[in-house]
Amino acid sequence: MDFYKLTRPLLFRLDPEKAHHLTLAGLRMLTRLKADSLLSPGIHSEPVEVMGIKFPNRIGLAAGLDKAGNCISGFGAMGFGSVEVGTITPLPQNGNPKPRLFRIREREAIINRMGFNNPGIDAALKNIANSRKGFAGIVGINIGKNKDTDNSQAIDDYLTCFRKAYPSADYIAVNISSPNTVGLRELQLPETARNLLLSLKQEQQKLHEESGKYVPFAVKIAPDMESRQILALADLFNDVQIDAVIATNTTIRRDNLQGVPHENEKGGLSGSPLARQSTEVIAALYKAMDKAIPIIGAGGIDSAKQARAKIEAGAKLVQIYTGLIYRGPSLVNELLNAKL
Ligand SMILES: Cc1cc2nc3c(=O)[nH]c(=O)nc-3n(C[C@H](O)[C@H](O)[C@H](O)COP(=O)(O)O)c2cc1C
Repeated sequence: MDFYKLTRPLLFRLDPEKAHHLTLAGLRMLTRLKADSLLSPGIHSEPVEVMGIKFPNRIGLAAGLDKAGNCISGFGAMGFGSVEVGTITPLPQNGNPKPRLFRIREREAIINRMGFNNPGIDAALKNIANSRKGFAGIVGINIGKNKDTDNSQAIDDYLTCFRKAYPSADYIAVNISSPNTVGLRELQLPETARNLLLSLKQEQQKLHEESGKYVPFAVKIAPDMESRQILALADLFNDVQIDAVIATNTTIRRDNLQGVPHENEKGGLSGSPLARQSTEVIAALYKAMDKAIPIIGAGGIDSAKQARAKIEAGAKLVQIYTGLIYRGPSLVNELLNAKL
């Protein structure tokens, strides 16, 4: 039985952010009651090694849904092989004023300008330690900078989060592509990105030597780049030998949204209208990048067909967010059973 078919009409009557909190609270309750196995009727799982770590399957939860790291094992119970928590910043912050989350039902899409609302890295790490209990999959910690940190100091914020997250994370995602923190995407400019990534590589090497544990890091990029920008980033990623790229974050474009409610809301657009654009970025990147650097594909995956398109374009793993809001846990099931 697909519970989500019953609950979605009720949830969609609520303000999107209230629906979000209610769903996560429900998920936590199911986990506490040890009833979360209801979410995953007999699923197929095929382990795959990416970034030197073993993922139970190719399907991951994209960053931004479990922003505070409270629900890892609940999402695990849906069948996700990996859960990416965050984005987390060094200090707690409230994010942008509400409303800041909009459903575009006509296009199975979302516009959000949440602005990294999160409890800060110290609290998030406590949440993660608790909520990952019983989860056998991979936990990624997605890091960013605080809103009040000037870009000239951004490296310090990333390094702070990187050091703190390192002992707890299976991998770290470096988010330089959210459109909702002013100036963040400027960190994708090749010279700025080079300094940031070299600093993180150096820190990774140091922490690896000190702890004996190697934690890979992936860089999350925007879909709104011209091909020459993608090529410049691919060159940089080859040079620095980062461990993976996550492609992509939400878009600031509004293709095919004319005439639908909320089309003019500021923020990042996700879901179906983003699917092709992010697949094109993956394909361009795959062509230009060392094959040793894996791509994690995200953007508008709402079916096994869309997930397969990402994998055919070069992605080794996929992540979903908006598709889960519209389709519910049965989407995870569909993707797992498609044996991607
Ligand atoms: C409400 C919302 C919040 C998000 N927050 C984050 C975030 O904090 N960090 C991040 O890297 N990506 C964030 N994302 C982007 C998603 O991780 C994903 O890259 C994007 O939505 C494309 O996938 P989708 O079309 O399956 O949603 C957010 C997306 C949504 C819809």
